[in-house]
Amino acid sequence: MDKVLFLTVTLSLFVVITQVKCSSSRLKRVTKAQVLGFDWKNCGQPDAPAVLKTLTVSPDPISIPGDLTASAAGSTSVELAAPLAVNVTLEKEVAGFWVKVPCVEELGSCHYQDACGILSQLIPPGQDCPEPLHTYGLPCRCPFKAGSYSLPQSDFYLPYMDLPYWLTNGNYRVQGVLGSQGSELGCLKVSLSLHSD
Ligand SMILES: *[C@@H]1O[C@H](CO)[C@@H](O)[C@H](O)[C@H]1NC(C)=O
Repeated sequence: MDKVLFLTVTLSLFVVITQVKCSSSRLKRVTKAQVLGFDWKNCGQPDAPAVLKTLTVSPDPISIPGDLTASAAGSTSVELAAPLAVNVTLEKEVAGFWVKVPCVEELGSCHYQDACGILSQLIPPGQDCPEPLHTYGLPCRCPFKAGSYSLPQSDFYLPYMDLPYWLTNGNYRVQGVLGSQGSELGCLKVSLSLHSD
């Protein structure tokens, strides 16, 4: 898939995994959750080096645990290499207003200075990239060479997860800004609704 897409997906997974790993003291048991109305858009400058071109996720709603089908494509006109910074802003709709969720134990609206380092921690160098990336020869660690990346339609199983205690039912939007050495490389906004028992 597009490098950008790949990176986006990888970073999203990264953020989710890191948050789940790092906030074990604040997790709550969730039997079942549903994600509804997943939507996304680029939010960088029109000439941003890294852009997501397509991202299709189904079904709607997505059940957790459950099966997810996704395809994506993106591109980057510059190599994405360390140091890569990612600023995440997570907002929740409360009584009609968007309220920023603070960064708590590496989850929420957090600034990650070294996204490449995090990826290398999650998937140690030398280890194959997780499927379906491996099958399609897509990278999962820095550097991501300039070029186009695309992930054909693939099935994923979303396992049972413990969610942070503050991740309650409602509408959320997340913005991720990717930057390196003071310049913005790309920006992605995702919105979704969460419903759990
Ligand atoms: C992240 O936010 C910090 C503080 O506002 C800022 O200095 C930095 O440039 C931002 N980085 C990105 C990639 O947007």
